[in-house]
Amino acid sequence: MRLWDKGESTDELVFTFCVGEDYILDNRLVPYDVQASQAHVRMLAAQGYLAPADAEALCGSLAELGEAHARGEWVVELADEDCHTALERHLTERLGEAGKRVHLGRSRNDQVLTALRLYLREALATAADQAASVAEALDELAAANPEQQMPGYTHMQRAMPSSVSEWAGAFASEIRDDAEGLRAAQRRAGKNPLGSAAGYGTPGVNLDREQTTQALGFAETQWPHAAAQLSRGKAEAEAVFALTLLAQDYGRLAADLCLFATSEFAFVRLPAAFTTGSSIMPQKRNPDVFELLRAKSVGVAAQLGHILAITHKMTSGYHRDLQEIKAPLFRAFDEVAGMSAVLARAVPGIEFDSARLQAAMDPGLYAAERANRYVTEEGMSFRDAYRRVAEELAAEANSQG
Ligand code: ARG
Repeated sequence: MRLWDKGESTDELVFTFCVGEDYILDNRLVPYDVQASQAHVRMLAAQGYLAPADAEALCGSLAELGEAHARGEWVVELADEDCHTALERHLTERLGEAGKRVHLGRSRNDQVLTALRLYLREALATAADQAASVAEALDELAAANPEQQMPGYTHMQRAMPSSVSEWAGAFASEIRDDAEGLRAAQRRAGKNPLGSAAGYGTPGVNLDREQTTQALGFAETQWPHAAAQLSRGKAEAEAVFALTLLAQDYGRLAADLCLFATSEFAFVRLPAAFTTGSSIMPQKRNPDVFELLRAKSVGVAAQLGHILAITHKMTSGYHRDLQEIKAPLFRAFDEVAGMSAVLARAVPGIEFDSARLQAAMDPGLYAAERANRYVTEEGMSFRDAYRRVAEELAAEANSQG
């Protein structure tokens, strides 16, 4: 029987449509709904709404259910709608009357918000650690190619002298900054929505929301009640924005490597294990992994667009639309986790071709430096020095041609 069953029948097609993939996605939220439910139960007991023995039994059963779920012994079923209902069904099956007492002073609306924020806290920390491993792989690549010169490009034209370690170090530095961005995205997920119930609190019941804030390690309690539903999707969007910036750096690193691996550039050789062949052209060694990284970086940005679009112009309060935020949220985290893992593996294997890199260091790259010397050593204005070097380069080109 459904939690909201009032004895009327539901159209099965409508029911299935409304659940959508939520029951599958919600498996990810089970451990967090377990934590939040335990904190809620303890708070209800402290407020005198649950007998201490019932509270003990509920917390124990919640822990067991969480462990059994982690071992794959049960999953959220379509008929459950979501993880909140599934857990309550299991509690009631195990404990009878006590199971039915857990759902006081809360609603699935604040439960899902709470579970998502607890999920975000862990997922953001993990994503930041994974980004740090990619930055370390880039540090290794820089260290493996000390002193190796490489042109720096503007407009895809040779511009200034640079080096492999500067190139790798720049990506490492930005990726570390993206990891900082992921950590900073914790702020919005740090507000406790639990106890806001359907969105307007629980008249007639005296909850201690500060207690669950403490127990769950939130930074603060979200007030007023109605702010909680208004904020759904914002911590998610901020997290996925931080992921988007990271994915974009991965995509740009991959774009450079695709270019550097062409036979025209040939700055890098990709290890055979990281390339794929062509079914028709026997000579091919394709950088598919980097092409897919480039494409997937766009996919992450698309998830952000999807999340933002769902809440746009929505009136305040809970709407079922909000359920649709979960899929793009989880997808963004999963895609970035995959990207981080493959980059951390592939980057240290990239080999630079010193002969090709040296040959690309044409004299034009030193033109700005030459002009700067006329300024610092001969006291010329930069404008005059610039023109003098341009003339010298033209003359040198003429004498060679
Ligand atoms: N699966 C729902 C969601 O993610 C849970 C809340 C359902 N609440 C409701 N009033 N139908 O939003």
